[in-house]
Amino acid sequence: MAACLYDAEGGFFTAGPLRSEEAGDFLTSPEVSRWFGRIIARHVAAERERLGWPEGFAVAEVGAGSGSLLEGLRAALGDDAPDLWAADVSPAARERLAAIVGSDRVVAGLEELPDEIVGVVIANELIDNLPASLAVRTSSGWEERWVGQGEAGDLALVAAPARPEVAAWADAYAPGTPNGGLVEVQLAAARWLTAALERLAAGTLLVVDYGGTAEELAPRRTRGTLRTYRAHHLGPDPLLAPGATDVTVDVNFTAMAAVAEAAVAGAAAGAAAGAGVELLRQDDYLARWGLRDVVAELRRRELELAKGDQAMARLAVRAERTDAETLLHPRGLGDFRVLVATVG
Ligand SMILES: C[S@@+](CC[C@H](N)C(=O)[O-])C[C@H]1O[C@@H](n2cnc3c(N)ncnc32)[C@H](O)[C@@H]1O
Repeated sequence: MAACLYDAEGGFFTAGPLRSEEAGDFLTSPEVSRWFGRIIARHVAAERERLGWPEGFAVAEVGAGSGSLLEGLRAALGDDAPDLWAADVSPAARERLAAIVGSDRVVAGLEELPDEIVGVVIANELIDNLPASLAVRTSSGWEERWVGQGEAGDLALVAAPARPEVAAWADAYAPGTPNGGLVEVQLAAARWLTAALERLAAGTLLVVDYGGTAEELAPRRTRGTLRTYRAHHLGPDPLLAPGATDVTVDVNFTAMAAVAEAAVAGAAAGAAAGAGVELLRQDDYLARWGLRDVVAELRRRELELAKGDQAMARLAVRAERTDAETLLHPRGLGDFRVLVATVG
């Protein structure tokens, strides 16, 4: 996964064009509707208020892609917009991001952001890409599958003994996996989450992605969730076109919440009022910050415009409303998960 996605010369993200837009390979929530960033702006404003408008309050998005989330957020906050930072491994994305937040605020990854952030760190559809190990349940425990050479000299998955940390993770977060079942062990995502929370002196880490709790993922363990995407469709087997497709897994949010709980509990400022970890569905998170009211208001405007002779304006509002509703679709983007970890 690391080579396929991040190789300097052939990685899907590092060497290709911008991926997260209509002309690219997948559409994300902020690409579907600007209301995604605008609604998160309300959470950001509340967090700034909770912290008492601290000096240097900032928002940093990691894996910021085209910057559509940050644009929506900044537009909503207007003159009160905080310092914005954007991180992305993709040079094509960084070029776009520089035009939005300024080149001195664009970096390649989490580790290049300021050491002590006071504010909000956001990752939308990032940690599903962080390289996972594959563990297979056997009658006596776990085995790993590594990428090796098949009989015809092609790439193939080969059996390897399970490393203790891989087996321990699979035991903890994939209980009940049937014999032969596949588990993606997300140690890199866990490390990323810990590192992000270490960087957050006070504020909130917001991680949004597809996946579910360990229990919800259990039925998918027979075949696992590792898959590829290309040009808005499911792509081929990950070993067939390395570097030419997105490689991704469903995020195990039970594991991520446990990591976040441990990091928040360990943070010096972790015990402050308002600190803690919450796991929500995206539809519930966006509704909490008012998106259903926005949709109702857009519908009201639509009806009003329908009364007059304003067909084009009505169609524009209608498009805005249906895009905003897409963010809430209970079996689509609304089923994504939002991990909210607050410290300080
Ligand atoms: C699915 S896109 C999401 C883009 C954006 N967050 C959005 O919601 O539209 C994932 C983005 O994360 C970037 N990315 C992937 N792995 C990364 C990493 N380890 N560090 C920083 N950026 C990464 C990719 O280049 C890509 O732009």
